[in-house]
Amino acid sequence: MDARRIAESIHWVGAVDWDRRLFDDLIPLPDGTTYNAYLVQGAEKTALLDAVDPAMLDKLLARLSSAGVQKIDYVVSHHTEQDHSGGIPCILAQYPEAQVLASDKARGLLMDHLGLPADRLRVVQNGEKVDLGGLTLEFIYFPWVHWPETMLTWVPERRVLFTCDLFGSHLATSDVLAHGDPQVLPAAKRYYAEIMMPFRNFIERNWARVTALDPAVIAPSHGPVYDEPRLILDAYQEWVFGPPKNLVLLPYISMHGSTRILVEHLVDACARRGVRIEQMNLVDTDVGRLAMLLVDAATIVLGTPTILNGPHPNVAYVALLANLLKPKARYLSVIGSLGWAGKTVEQLGAMVSSLKLEMLPTVLCKGLPKPADLEAIEQLAQTIAEKHAGL
Ligand code: FEO
Repeated sequence: MDARRIAESIHWVGAVDWDRRLFDDLIPLPDGTTYNAYLVQGAEKTALLDAVDPAMLDKLLARLSSAGVQKIDYVVSHHTEQDHSGGIPCILAQYPEAQVLASDKARGLLMDHLGLPADRLRVVQNGEKVDLGGLTLEFIYFPWVHWPETMLTWVPERRVLFTCDLFGSHLATSDVLAHGDPQVLPAAKRYYAEIMMPFRNFIERNWARVTALDPAVIAPSHGPVYDEPRLILDAYQEWVFGPPKNLVLLPYISMHGSTRILVEHLVDACARRGVRIEQMNLVDTDVGRLAMLLVDAATIVLGTPTILNGPHPNVAYVALLANLLKPKARYLSVIGSLGWAGKTVEQLGAMVSSLKLEMLPTVLCKGLPKPADLEAIEQLAQTIAEKHAGL
């Protein structure tokens, strides 16, 4: 359990969770995760940046011990969520001189969520600097990535930027450094889609502050450390700022096969017109994969039978999820079957109301699709192709 060097006098002292398979009882973790914590040792003071998930505190304590850390002066809390701050009460007990440094909004959150005593907490302001002796901690408020209190820490002498959840990825790995390897990007994209995409506007607003620093290292609190930051900065540039792509996301359920016929016809009709389309059966859904596709999709087509007057609950779940994740998609359609009547289209439209999508023609057939229904699917594919031509 050694501390791993990421720059002179700066070490990774986190934990790798190879076995965790679910986060927040919502987000699948096919690749596990890491809880990164960092030790920044100046000539006079020592700071611990974040403090891992409480379930893995023993790993953090073992790494601090192996690094011979006798005294911690500051514990920087970038973000109150328990996977980074849950270990702080134990650190405060083990290191009685330690003071927690956090943003103004974090103060109340840390007291509410972790019961931290007020006399161990010190609010640092946006832009404030704390001198460790030859190394400086400079705090940068960056709210809503992804809680209101989130902030970053910049160490100018080493040009290392600590970003907590921002630029993170749920990826268990024995390599602390990414070394510019693009194979780490799918996990970073999945993380962006699940956690950061709803806050795209806040990333846009503060983007120039990050790039102006020209960091040599970006050290998030999940997943690999970017010792070649261009890799993750370029990826975010595309995910946050780029237009949606020529991609249709088609999540669907088919109870008796009618909706599936429409789905398969639409996939063929789009492919013939050069439109990429991903069909996704919601019987068994990886919501992370769905979220990743939402990063790029210009069009969402929901395929559903009508059940009890409305959409199948699995399809309704995806609509509500998309509404929360706030993807860049521009167009929406609904296809499916019904037995006699229903309000499926209206109900699904209301569930994605915050996305401001342009509704394309919908195709609902009674029972088995007839030739006219399949022709309507052809027309829908043509409309999609024309809309996507301008992307
Ligand atoms: Fe990794 Fe928002 O906690």
